[in-house]
Order: sequence, then C-alpha cells, then structure tokens
Amino acid sequence: MKNILVTGGLGFIGSHTVVELQNTGYHVIIVDDLSNSKIEVLERIKEITGIAPEFHQIDLRIKQDVKDLFANTTIDGIIHFAAFKAVGESVEKPLDYYENNIGSLVYLLQEMRDRNIDHFIFSSSCTVYGQADELPITENAPIKPAASPYGNTKQIGEEIIKESCEAYGMNAIALRYFNPIGAHDSIKIGELPLGVPQNLIPFVTQTAAGIREQLSVFGDDYDTQDGTAIRDYIHVVDLAKAHIVALQRLLHKENKSSFEFFNIGTGKGSSVLEVVKSFEKVSATKLNYKIVDRRPGDITAAYADTTLAEKELRWKTEKSLDEALLSAWQWQQENK
Ligand code: NAD
Ligand code: WQD
Repeated sequence: MKNILVTGGLGFIGSHTVVELQNTGYHVIIVDDLSNSKIEVLERIKEITGIAPEFHQIDLRIKQDVKDLFANTTIDGIIHFAAFKAVGESVEKPLDYYENNIGSLVYLLQEMRDRNIDHFIFSSSCTVYGQADELPITENAPIKPAASPYGNTKQIGEEIIKESCEAYGMNAIALRYFNPIGAHDSIKIGELPLGVPQNLIPFVTQTAAGIREQLSVFGDDYDTQDGTAIRDYIHVVDLAKAHIVALQRLLHKENKSSFEFFNIGTGKGSSVLEVVKSFEKVSATKLNYKIVDRRPGDITAAYADTTLAEKELRWKTEKSLDEALLSAWQWQQENK
C-alpha cells in the first residue's frame, strides 16, 4: 500500500480527496494545523470510508516539525493543499501569505530532495490566467501578472516546483482548479468558511439559510449574456478525483515531462444569475439578492478547456451544477 502525505487534508478540498484516496486503497497521512479546519473532519472521514487516516497536527511553517515528520514517516507521494486562500486578506497580509504558501512549499520540497521522495501534486488555481484573452482557457494561455499576493503565491509556487523537478529529478503535477463548490454525497464533509464568506456559493447558501440577509450580486454590466460574471463551478468530489488520477499518472510514470499542469474544471461557464436560478430551483427557496457594483479585481469570465485533462488524465467531471448546488445546500442545512 502506498503512503500518501496530504497536507491541508482536513480542509475543504483536502478532506474530499482523502476520502477518494482511502476508497482507492492508499494509506493516507494527513498533516494540518487546523488554522482553517476542524478536528471533527477526521471523524467524518472515518465515518464515510470506515478508515481513520493517520493525522499529525503540524504547522508546515515550522521547519523542524516538517523535518521530524519526514524523519519518522515513509512517503511515496505528496498532495499539497495546505495554504492560506483568501484573496482579499492576502492584499492586507502579503507576508503571511508568502511565509505560508511559499515557505511551507519550500520546506516540503527540501525534504523530498534530501530523502529522494518523488511524486508531488500541487493545488494551483485558474487565477494564474487572470482575464484570459480567449475562452475556454487552455493550458497554453499565458500567465498574467497576478492580481493579488495570493495569486502570486500560486504562480511562484508553480515555478519553484518546476525548477525543483528539473534540478533534483522529481516529478510533479500542478492542478489549476477553477471554482470548487459543493459537498460530499454523504453530507458529512463540505466547505467551512470562517466569518463572512467571500465566495459566491457559501454566501448564497448562508443567505438562503437566513444567516445573511441578502446576497450582493457584484455587477450586471459585464459583457456577458445576462451582464453578470461567468465562472466554471466544479463539484468538489469531481475535483478530488482529479487528484487520484494525477497521482496515479506520476506513480505509474505516465507523465510526459517532470513538471506538468492541467486545468481542472467542467468546461462550462455559468453566470452569477444562472447560479442563483439553479440554486433557487434545487433548494426550492427564493433567494434575496440585489445587484450592486462590481467587486474590484473581478474578471468578466473564466472557464476551462478540459481537452488536455480528458486526454492525458482520462478524467472529466461527472456532476452537474445542480447537483453541486444541492449538495452545498444540504451541507448548509446540516451546519446551521
Ligand atoms: P482550506 O482552507 O479549506 O484547506 C486548507 C487546509 O490547510 C486547512 O485545513 C488549513 O487548516 C490547512 N493549513 C493551512 N496552512 C497550514 C500550515 N501552515 N500547516 C498545516 N496546515 C495548514 O482550503 P481549500 O479550499 O481546501 O484549498 C486547498 C488548496 O487549494 C489551497 O492551496 C488553495 O489555495 C487551493 N485552491 C482553492 C480554491 C478554492 O476556491 N477553494 C481554488 C483554487 C485553488
Ligand atoms: C464568483 C463570482 C463574483 C460573491 C476566487 C479567487 C480565486 C479562486 C476561487 C483560489 C464572481 C460573484 C461572489 C458574492 C457575487 N480561489 N460574487 N457575490 O472570484 O471567481 O475566485 O475563488 O484560488 O483565486 O479569486 O470566486 O466565489 O468569489 O466569485 O456576485 O457575494 O460570484 O463577483 O463573479 P472568484 P467567487
């Protein structure tokens, strides 16, 4: 059985990926400092899969703790989710973001180098493309100057990994996620936003649940069919499965270069108002919303060209926007 280290494995995407890894037969070692997750998630993962993952509460910014972890553990591959992810906060606290998102990454890669550990999967983001000139977005689209320190950590992170692969003979895949949403079918794990949600779907579900009074739709004067901005919303379980196939590609040495990157989305763009309509339908609720000004820094439209992922990873999404929104709503109702 292969041992897979999952950093940030109690977080939103990490926890869903741990479930898929365990269901596929991997031994999972989770590292998380609980800075943006709850320890209860560990028990939930066990309830879903019947297996309690190995867990270490470690802050990856503490180099000695990372060293100790690797000294005491056999690791065949790493999926690295742990990072700070709030775009707005990253503008206010750039150094915190660089320390965590870059510092932790470097410590992990140093251990891989020193212990000849191969196979690294990195959580990247469609944010690296900024407003792409052409839609859908292929992996050939140029990287645009980062709009935030958070976005910059993903661009720099990819470069650090690529250079490390070239220098030290490692193999890595960066997955550039589009907009992950939804919850596990069991409704035992999902997204746990702290404070006022910045992302659309948790704001929608909290509004429907009466926690927020009203959803603000940021702008209806974009150059899109209904004037609201377009994104590619991917069900988190589909996204989790992409990590399994990417890991297997590395473990089976099917990768075509030492550092590869793939867009991970549905290929379908949905406007904010389409999301609102779809949500109202699946939840049988009426959403209180109003149109307000655009949010600074937002782009008009982004959705993935999934051709490369389909061909090389033999992966594509299976779940619809409706299914994703329904699971997000059921999860919200469990977590009032
Ligand atoms: P999340 O905050 O739910 O999960 C991240 C986990 O990492 C949390 O459990 C947190 O406690 C942990 N963590 C953070 N810093 C740590 C540290 N120093 N040491 C140990 N653990 C630490 O976020 P998520 O939505 O699951 O995102 C996972 C990854 O995917 C991140 O790298 C994020 O940047 C990336 N990503 C997320 C999205 C999105 O919209 N959710 C989109 C694109 C990329
Ligand atoms: C989606 C759409 C908003 C909230 C962010 C990060 C990106 C990536 C994913 C990590 C936009 C609109 C939102 C609200 C609204 N994360 N909206 N009212 O902006 O595509 O991307 O998360 O890598 O880096 O920037 O996602 O969910 O915030 O917004 O109208 O209350 O919903 O304007 O058009 P976004 P989002």
